[in-house]
Amino acid sequence: MTTEPTHFLDIDDVSRDELLTILERAEAYKRAQRTGADHADLDGQTLGMIFQKPSTRTRVSFETGMTQLGGHAVFLGEDDIQLGRGEPLKDTSRTLSRYVDAVMARVFKHENIEVLAEYSSVPIVNGLTDDAHPCQTLADLLTIREHEGGFEDVSAVWIGDGNNVAQSFALGAALTDIDLTVATPAGYEIDDDVLDRARELGGDPTVTTDPVEAVTDADVIYTDVWISMGQEDERDVRMNDFEGFQVGSDLLEHAPEASVMHCLPAHRGEEITDEIIESDRSIVFDQAENRLHAQKALLSWLLE
Ligand code: CP
Ligand code: NVA
Repeated sequence: MTTEPTHFLDIDDVSRDELLTILERAEAYKRAQRTGADHADLDGQTLGMIFQKPSTRTRVSFETGMTQLGGHAVFLGEDDIQLGRGEPLKDTSRTLSRYVDAVMARVFKHENIEVLAEYSSVPIVNGLTDDAHPCQTLADLLTIREHEGGFEDVSAVWIGDGNNVAQSFALGAALTDIDLTVATPAGYEIDDDVLDRARELGGDPTVTTDPVEAVTDADVIYTDVWISMGQEDERDVRMNDFEGFQVGSDLLEHAPEASVMHCLPAHRGEEITDEIIESDRSIVFDQAENRLHAQKALLSWLLE
């Protein structure tokens, strides 16, 4: 009898307890890496990495993470494999399953990661789709826990586009009891389906179109680009629609104690100012580093 693999397509694929286990393991890996302690827990294992969109953090953190765990990662850019010449995802998935121990994929439509999972006999990890970015959320939660000392009584605000990063973060906040407010312009809200899932997990995100009201007295303010990969044609409309949502010194006057998060890459002068991203309030590079530790923990948990 074969057992079904565990996939990680969004953050609510794991339970609260599983999420805490992964975060604790991430903290242990972070300590191990700092002290040079051996942690080759995936000795001889291979991760396939499909990319249909560019990446700096996801690609490098998964690849170095596998190396540090004693394994290996294979970069599979869409145009380097037959997928780019029309080989179906389901055939790609079944073939890769015969070679590698897990697959991480960054694709456009979320349905495409679901197809990969449906046909895979090894774990599929979502490295970003148009709808979700759960590996980012793992790092975000690890970073909040480090900076705030836990999740209890933390008030976080998402400001800007209700995009893939926002949606997974909203679910992650619900799983950890972070008090979340989501401030977006009208028409850019996170999906109702995601709000329903957050509520089913016990969350109760406040949704608003007022950025000042949202950030007032927040502990953490999180933003991302206004134009995600694949939305380049919407630039003019979006630049207009997001006016007033920039994370800059004017807005942050209303949240004097807040740390500022961004998943990166940032477009300085658009969703965030250069001054704020370079300031002491910015924890964006801790977030970026934590991608490495969180994903190592995720992979070793999925493959154990
Ligand atoms: N935050 C993030 O996923 O960055 P990359 O696009 O560089 O992977
Ligand atoms: N929302 C951004 C995140 C990049 C890591 C995008 O999808 O392009």
